[in-house]
Amino acid sequence: MIRARPIPAHTATPTGTGDQGDVHSEMAPPVPVVSRRRYDFGLMSKVTAPGIRSRKGGPKIAVVTAYDFPGAVIADRAGIDMILVGDSVANVVHGMDTTLEIGLDEIVLHTRAVKRAKPNALVVADMPWLTFHLGEEDTVRNAGRLVREGGAEAVKLEGGRKRLPVIEAILDAEIPVMGHVGLTPQSVHAMGGFKVQGKVVDAAREMIEDAKALSDVGCFSIVIEGVPDILGELITKEVDAPTIGIGAGPSTDGQVLVFHDVLGLGDGNYPKFVRPYASLADEAVAALERFKADIQKGSFPGDDESYHVTDEIAAELLKDS
Ligand code: KIV
Repeated sequence: MIRARPIPAHTATPTGTGDQGDVHSEMAPPVPVVSRRRYDFGLMSKVTAPGIRSRKGGPKIAVVTAYDFPGAVIADRAGIDMILVGDSVANVVHGMDTTLEIGLDEIVLHTRAVKRAKPNALVVADMPWLTFHLGEEDTVRNAGRLVREGGAEAVKLEGGRKRLPVIEAILDAEIPVMGHVGLTPQSVHAMGGFKVQGKVVDAAREMIEDAKALSDVGCFSIVIEGVPDILGELITKEVDAPTIGIGAGPSTDGQVLVFHDVLGLGDGNYPKFVRPYASLADEAVAALERFKADIQKGSFPGDDESYHVTDEIAAELLKDS
């Protein structure tokens, strides 16, 4: 049975054909996906790499990964300082076992999606495994793709003193670099698994030297991952660049977590250092269960969620039925 309902004046066509054009035209005014408030009133300005570097010892820096447009919109609305398009996208989004499986093309694609949100947050793209190991020229070309094609405003790469030549080459191309020491997931096989690093004195001292070298060469910040809290604190004291911890204790200059972990979008098996601030996976399952039940009951879609024609057109159509 076709039910007729008057079409609002702004959507009815002059010919009365019932052609309503845009499927959204009958919807309630859309809620803006991107809050423009901060842009309109200029309350927050764009975060830059030098701006982050200058925050050593200042207000703590909040960083989260994001891999797509909606994630970046959400992170930016929350006032997050830096969005990292991490190679953790391999595990979190693509279901891969290690980050070794993700390539440059994929990180470029995810970075581009993040950048379309035009975030105030600084957008940092991860350099995947083997994109900075084959010489300086190759490294700069790859970092350049993240900037030119992806829109990244800085790049991150894993490793200590061994990576100084390629870091210098990227910096020389005017691309800000974020360092990453400690548990570096791209070294999973060399480390013999995902193990907390720097637990013995020699290794801890080596890591401090690595971090100092990264800071001295000009990295605007350094991720410290998977180390004892005291080492996170010592490195933070020793280096000029702000440190961003993940599983490195509370003393670093900032903290980073994976988007899906912080929102509880995973399977509930989170590493020790994760604090889920929501249980969105459970909420999503419950919502989809309700959606399914409504479909089965016939209560979705309702009248308000359906399109209608004028009484005359309905009457004409019903004549034939
Ligand atoms: O890839 C990533 O998400 C990272 C952060 C966890 C630091 O490197």
